[in-house]
Amino acid sequence: MPVNRQVYLDHAAATPVDDDVLAAMQPFFAAQFYNPSANYLAAQAVRHDLEAARASVAACLGARTGEIIFTAGGTESDNLAISGVMMQHQGANVVVSAIEHDAVLEAAHPFDCRLAAVDARGLLDLADLESRIDEQTVLVSVMYANNEVGTIQPIRQVALLLERLRTARRQAGNSLPLYLHTDACQAANYLDLHVSRLGVDLMTLNGGKIYGPKQSGVLYVSSRVRLQPLIRGGGQERGLRSGTENVAAAVGFAKALELAQARRHEEVRRLGELQRYAFEQCATQLPTAVINGSTKHRLPNNLHLTLPGQDNERLLVELDERGILAAAGSACSASNEEPSHVLRAMGLSDDAAQASLRLTMGRTTTEADVEAVVYTLAELLG
Ligand SMILES: Cc1ncc(COP(=O)(O)O)c(C=O)c1O
Repeated sequence: MPVNRQVYLDHAAATPVDDDVLAAMQPFFAAQFYNPSANYLAAQAVRHDLEAARASVAACLGARTGEIIFTAGGTESDNLAISGVMMQHQGANVVVSAIEHDAVLEAAHPFDCRLAAVDARGLLDLADLESRIDEQTVLVSVMYANNEVGTIQPIRQVALLLERLRTARRQAGNSLPLYLHTDACQAANYLDLHVSRLGVDLMTLNGGKIYGPKQSGVLYVSSRVRLQPLIRGGGQERGLRSGTENVAAAVGFAKALELAQARRHEEVRRLGELQRYAFEQCATQLPTAVINGSTKHRLPNNLHLTLPGQDNERLLVELDERGILAAAGSACSASNEEPSHVLRAMGLSDDAAQASLRLTMGRTTTEADVEAVVYTLAELLG
């Protein structure tokens, strides 16, 4: 069954912009180009549309409009969350999970940063997390879903743990805050984002993973949290992110999030079935393949395989030549030669990491795509 069309299996890296999102953005590049801070009526109409986009995002998150800060993507939101909290507290520390995206790890690195372990399934070890939090910890950052192996982290349990620790702190007269940040970039297509149900104080989202524009994103900042800005200037976005607002990106992001959340139950069902089918196909046609990461607590679009003895870079080239686009580990670290820190944290050897592929499905993925990739891999493995 040779592939005679493109099979795109890298949705964790990028998603195409949805037609309705593009249509919603289009006016802000042309007729409605005005600066939303200007005073004339035409500009006020643009301001109104920007605020409507903010209200739409807030509604998806169960948040207040004033708690939504538009940014230029996941990396910026993560940096604002981490540095924005940490810069205010000399001598304090931040605890992050060992499998965070580099946008969190690198933002946390300049501060006193402790890593919380994950188990072999790629799930946060809650006891280890608790052991790393002390009376000087002001921020805990745990991603909602991992971008490499797709594992869904127990955010609600982390929130309950922090609530218990906050109570103990109050009783001990410690007035330092203890905030919870979650990077939900990979979660927004499939999971509940309601911030009070989750119990988070800060949440990162980006448009490029939810069929919205790249370099669009949001940081949810609870009204309880005090943040220092990284970008200073004219005071837009409540002074937390100065610069003339990218209204097209904000409107596009809001539309993409609205659509993603409206479709998420159906996508979880459809992709969950495809994922099960893919795992079955792998078991029969790629008997040496090992599935990495919990299959239970996992995004429905993620397949992550180790093919023992194989070189993932070579496999990716061979797949590409046959029209199948996939990834080794995360796209953001694809250019550095280091084996994935996520797979290392899960206890995989460097050789196993080097033999691993990430296949991430999306809205247009079909059963035929799954069959094509498994068939092609079986052929390549000979
Ligand atoms: C979990 C996670 N966080 C952050 C980012 C960075 O987002 P952006 O590329 O929009 O800056 C990504 C992108 O791969 C991601 O998957």
